Amino acid sequence: MNLKQMVGIEAASYVKDDMIVGLGTGSTAYYFIEELGRRVQEEELHIQGVPTSFASRKQAKALGIPVKTIDEVSYVDLVVDGADEISADFQGIKGGGAALLFEKIVASYAKQVIWIVDQSKLVTKLGRFPLPVEVVPYGEKQLFQLFEEKGYRPSFRLTADGELLVTDCQHHIIDLHLDVIEQPHALDEELNQLVGVVEHGLFLEMVQTVIIGQEDGVKTIVV
Ligand code: A5P
Repeated sequence: MNLKQMVGIEAASYVKDDMIVGLGTGSTAYYFIEELGRRVQEEELHIQGVPTSFASRKQAKALGIPVKTIDEVSYVDLVVDGADEISADFQGIKGGGAALLFEKIVASYAKQVIWIVDQSKLVTKLGRFPLPVEVVPYGEKQLFQLFEEKGYRPSFRLTADGELLVTDCQHHIIDLHLDVIEQPHALDEELNQLVGVVEHGLFLEMVQTVIIGQEDGVKTIVV
């Protein structure tokens, strides 16, 4: 069993009958959803899933997990999602899988947020992983230029075919190559104020539980 699978299975044990569960996106959340599907089938667990991407929705439906959108539920008990980087003070970068917008919306309305990662995602300070910024296509070149002027070393996210990546909400992503983010809260505010920025991948003060897959087993940290 690989580390991502270990943490995915561990996180699924937090799900109880009748919960409304946010379903994260990415290669780690994939294993969480798989295990949840197994529990729904074999243990007759009754839950409703709120997927954070079309990909997770498709996976959940194929496994027989009932799915709802965030607008069809009045609350979310917990969301389990991956992360691209987690700093020593438990701030995160997400959006490597381009699902940051739905992920942040679902996390914002969840009573509990659990991140599941392998040990490679833990860093002292955020920033080595490029920070995704989801933008409206109209005016995106102006934003790109602004990021260049600020020294943020932007690049448009492309697909494997070299096309501009289009998110589930028909936006584009500009990745900022910052190396180190000394003041994540200040950057969060700065990006939030830019017209045309829909959302960005800094997830600050959001997580309550981090489940880490290590070579010697699973470690759980309650933040
Ligand atoms: C999706 O947009 C992301 O936020 C993912 O949760 C994040 O990139 C972690 O993905 P992996 O589990 O595939 O590393």
